[in-house]
Amino acid sequence: MKKIVVFASGSGSNFQAIIDAVQSGRIEALIRGLITNRDDAGAVKRAKSSGIPVTILNPSNFQTRSEYESALLNKLNEWNPDLIVLAGYMLKIPSSLISAWPGQIINIHPALLPAYGGKGYYGLRVHRAVLDAGESETGCSVHYVNELYDDGPVIDQRRVRVLKGDTPESLRDRVLKAEHKLLPSVIAKLLNKS
Ligand code: GRF
Repeated sequence: MKKIVVFASGSGSNFQAIIDAVQSGRIEALIRGLITNRDDAGAVKRAKSSGIPVTILNPSNFQTRSEYESALLNKLNEWNPDLIVLAGYMLKIPSSLISAWPGQIINIHPALLPAYGGKGYYGLRVHRAVLDAGESETGCSVHYVNELYDDGPVIDQRRVRVLKGDTPESLRDRVLKAEHKLLPSVIAKLLNKS
């Protein structure tokens, strides 16, 4: 059975979409665990209600950066995932981890990359920028993770229409619905391939 490890810092609705897809058999894999930097993240509650192990690793709780990275690598070596999924994870992934899991770390971003991605484009800021630019469509992207924010090769995208009267919040909610379809479908395809 293939193993997935999810990283999430937020409400975890994408994490939930992965849990649901595993439970319904659309993804044939085990969610080995959740890694988060925030013990108050909604994702932690979702993991607990589904019996998924949680590890909280916050760099500020470690004396040095290298102790933090070792803790992260040790946990991942223990869980030994085939795929690592960043689902709303707010911290940069250390390069030691990217080289240890080459081509096995993916991220979801709420825009049509390369547009509206990179440093500073997160949360409602992304959708506000899309509206300010007068775009008629936006969407979401799943891409491989490299050392830069939102920069690795795009694997798949879904388009979402921008509607008259949209607010950053209404656009976020519509894009999120598309994310919940896109992310499980990409995970299923990648796991079938490997
Ligand atoms: C999503 O919009 C995702 O694209 C971005 O962070 C948000 C996380 O939302 N990377 P949730 O925690 O999955 O609800």
